[in-house]
Amino acid sequence: MTTPTSTPPASLDVDALLRDAQIIVCCGAGGVGKTTTAAALGVRAAEQGRSVCVLTIDPARRLAQSMGLTELDNTPRAVSGIDTSAGGRLDAMMLDMKRTFDDIVVAHSDEARAKAILANPFYVSLSSSFAGTQEYMAMEKLGQLKAKGTWDLIVVDTPPSRSALDFLDAPQRLGRFLDGRMIRLLTAPARAGGRAYLKVFAVGVKMFTDVLNRLLGAQALRDLSLFVTSLETMFGGFRERADQTYKLLKERGTSFLVVAVPERDALREAAYFVERLETERMPLAGVVLNRVHMSGAPALSVERSIAAAETLEGDGDEAYAAAALRVHADRLASAIRDARRASQFHAAHPRVRMAEVTAQASDVHDLEGLRRIGAELAAETPTAA
Ligand SMILES: Nc1ncnc2c1ncn2[C@@H]1O[C@H](COP(=O)(O)OP(=O)(O)O)[C@@H](O)[C@H]1O
Ligand SMILES: [Mg+2]
Repeated sequence: MTTPTSTPPASLDVDALLRDAQIIVCCGAGGVGKTTTAAALGVRAAEQGRSVCVLTIDPARRLAQSMGLTELDNTPRAVSGIDTSAGGRLDAMMLDMKRTFDDIVVAHSDEARAKAILANPFYVSLSSSFAGTQEYMAMEKLGQLKAKGTWDLIVVDTPPSRSALDFLDAPQRLGRFLDGRMIRLLTAPARAGGRAYLKVFAVGVKMFTDVLNRLLGAQALRDLSLFVTSLETMFGGFRERADQTYKLLKERGTSFLVVAVPERDALREAAYFVERLETERMPLAGVVLNRVHMSGAPALSVERSIAAAETLEGDGDEAYAAAALRVHADRLASAIRDARRASQFHAAHPRVRMAEVTAQASDVHDLEGLRRIGAELAAETPTAA
């Protein structure tokens, strides 16, 4: 039974999630621990007996190496060092955004057309740098992996976007852009021939394309037209495709985990995302509060530690003791601040389940580190002080 605010947050049952989910999407603001969480969940689920694929986007180099992710070849590979005695397995891959895009082009057009598109300068820049392409391709890849039906569970990391919402918004934004009116206007000459185009559209549009012509050059504009029309014949609409992959995220068996750190911006971001999932009716499993500071000796208060440190100023042992007390005071202050932020978040979102992971002494770069994170994720949420 849930009672209002002052109770600690209902803890997220991570092991139940790992047992039941088919897709877990780890979202959150940049740098909060999405990739680490996704990898840790993958390791844990695999060692509990599930057949798992982790789709990572931007793993830190050492983490990537520890999982055998040394090649960007866009196919999942078995991770060695996983305990498979429970019958599970772990495959992992790193998303190569451009390669995923190229594969779509090749799969959907004949050889000559594919060649023309792949060489088109607009394609080259769109496929490797356009804002939103990475989000789009992450979903695309997820769709492909799911369609294979090889794994019980796919854990998806999300791109290092500025905002967690980009993961939901960018694919459609990209779809809208590619299906958009501006592109239609620009490509109208290629479809209808220049003359018909002039009759149909206002002089303002003509001026607009003239300006673009001058800015981009006629060749570039032709490239763009050609690119978009050929993409269109190939896909029958990018937006439709984005909508389709979007549906996958609403399917039963898909769960979102919002990762945050106990800092104001990250928690605000997490709150937006939680609300957005609710309006979209997408299933939120819960919030992972990562890098939480814990204090070893909470009984010794910040004030008393500082006061004690001040009475101990001096040389030798006393100076060390004073320094230790100050470190303790710092840690405790962080722990108190983190606990306060966690409980504020909980008060604002009382129904959201939470799991906490402590700030590790160093970054997480091997299977052992991932196992530790996984164990913390699955433990009961420590009661906030
Ligand atoms: N609980 C933690 N304690 C200490 N370091 C962490 C923790 N979680 C993540 N990190 C480190 O923080 C950095 C960013 O994590 P990462 O998972 O790459 O974040 P994101 O994918 O959200 O950008 C990495 O160096 C990672 O090892
Ligand atoms: Mg990342």
